Amino acid sequence: MRRPLIMGNWKLNGNKAVVTSLLKDLDAQLVGIEGVDVAVAPPVMYLDIAEKQINELQSKIILGAQNVDINLSGAFTGDISPEMLKDFGATHIIIGHSERREYHQESDDSVAKKLAVLKEQGLTPVICIGESEAQNEAGETLTVCARQLDAIINAQGVEAFDGVIIAYEPIWAIGTGKAATPDDAQRIHAGIRSHIAQKSDTIAKKIIIQYGGSVKPENAATYFMQPDIDGALVGGASLNATDFASIVQAAAKMKN
Ligand code: 13P
Repeated sequence: MRRPLIMGNWKLNGNKAVVTSLLKDLDAQLVGIEGVDVAVAPPVMYLDIAEKQINELQSKIILGAQNVDINLSGAFTGDISPEMLKDFGATHIIIGHSERREYHQESDDSVAKKLAVLKEQGLTPVICIGESEAQNEAGETLTVCARQLDAIINAQGVEAFDGVIIAYEPIWAIGTGKAATPDDAQRIHAGIRSHIAQKSDTIAKKIIIQYGGSVKPENAATYFMQPDIDGALVGGASLNATDFASIVQAAAKMKN
């Protein structure tokens, strides 16, 4: 049985006051919801306040981050190391988000390196994969996802996926309101799982695969109904405590 994970990716949003109040509101709304892990990834500037707020509330919310560098320390201006994230209690680290692949030219290989470093440091990588609209229309979705996974499998073996979370995020569905249909998402999730199963059935059965891309309270349950969708990586709707909590609630209902 895979324990669902709903993670909020706050992207480049928020300020000190928003981070504090959003966590407080969210924590209050999560009371009584069981059987689901809930994580948030605030902008790295706000990890400190987020960690303090989570501790003060004695909240079960898991702290995450949106990116990491492959180096632990040294002359790497502007970068943030896995140890620094750990220092602030962040455990679930998003890597390979399509916005980083697009705006910061992150390659499959650099994402694979990040995954290895995070695992060495005892952190949980949340690796984003997914196709562009053109690739989707050309029927290349699974090929693209397999290529992104193979960058890791070929370099580190399938064992590298043990304890990792995959977020399938079709790029054309991110922030557009044009979500993948639950049937299409299920088909791709099953394809991703079977790609991993070709190398290890045990890891494939265990791995959490989240869907991401315009997940909202209105459509969340339709995804969580699907057997291979184990949670969600939520952008816009995670900035509203009520909306995000209702997505968590949908997962609790459909998965338990
Ligand atoms: P939206 O939920 O805003 O579409 O964003 C999805 C996403 O990119 C999460 O990482």
